[in-house]
Amino acid sequence: MIFTFIVYYWILRFKPLTITIIMSDRKEHWENVYQTKQLTELSWYEPIPETSLSIIKRFKLPKDSAIIDIGGGDSLLVDYLLMLGYTNITVLDISAKAIARAKERLGEKASQVKWIVKDIIEFNPDRKYDLWHDRATFHFLLNKEEKDKYLEMVHKNLTPDGYMVLSTFSEEGPEKCSGLPVQQYSENSLPELFASYFEKIKCFTKMHITPFHTIQSFVFCSFRNKPVSSPRFLTELL
Ligand SMILES: C[S@@+](CC[C@H](N)C(=O)[O-])C[C@H]1O[C@@H](n2cnc3c(N)ncnc32)[C@H](O)[C@@H]1O
Repeated sequence: MIFTFIVYYWILRFKPLTITIIMSDRKEHWENVYQTKQLTELSWYEPIPETSLSIIKRFKLPKDSAIIDIGGGDSLLVDYLLMLGYTNITVLDISAKAIARAKERLGEKASQVKWIVKDIIEFNPDRKYDLWHDRATFHFLLNKEEKDKYLEMVHKNLTPDGYMVLSTFSEEGPEKCSGLPVQQYSENSLPELFASYFEKIKCFTKMHITPFHTIQSFVFCSFRNKPVSSPRFLTELL
């Protein structure tokens, strides 16, 4: 009881410091994962990221559209996007080691990609994107403050009609990913959370077969950005 009180007091009193500690912990976690495991030893590994690619292809985006893969790690999505002819790709990940591995795999082609090592919660984009892709990163955000920050960031930094593809563990999926607790979502709860800023295009559940032949249930949702709303004082003036 006293311990719980002390923890709550600490979080309320020293919130920014607590968040910084959580953030440095998660960076350490992910650097360690990519230092110790090979690509094909990661449960989320896909030899071909077929589901993401088929959703992206349906948008029929021009090849020079600005695409960002959030928490891309050393996923092969960037390789396939390059193969499809996309020329304006950014990959962001909290782990420098993951980005280094992806760059090494791509060799000379790596120079055609913009690489960002950053915690998504600290990301302050200097441009707008036409497509925001996130497979299995958003679900690590557990508190409302971080989820809201993420939502607002995507909304503000996607072009007015830009697309978002978001994939998380489903309510039938695992409760942890890479040993960390995750927030599970359903085909209903994910669009509900994003409803104020995004129009749902489609949500569906997809089973992923891990390299260890276990099955993980994912939800995939695609969204279209809603126009950024005017500040209230402007709306009142009109
Ligand atoms: C489960 S893996 C998924 C990797 C990749 N998206 C895929 O589908 O193969 C989660 C990835 O998100 C990254 N990550 C986790 N938390 C992050 C955060 N707060 N900011 C940026 N990247 C993060 C990890 O380093 C890791 O590469």
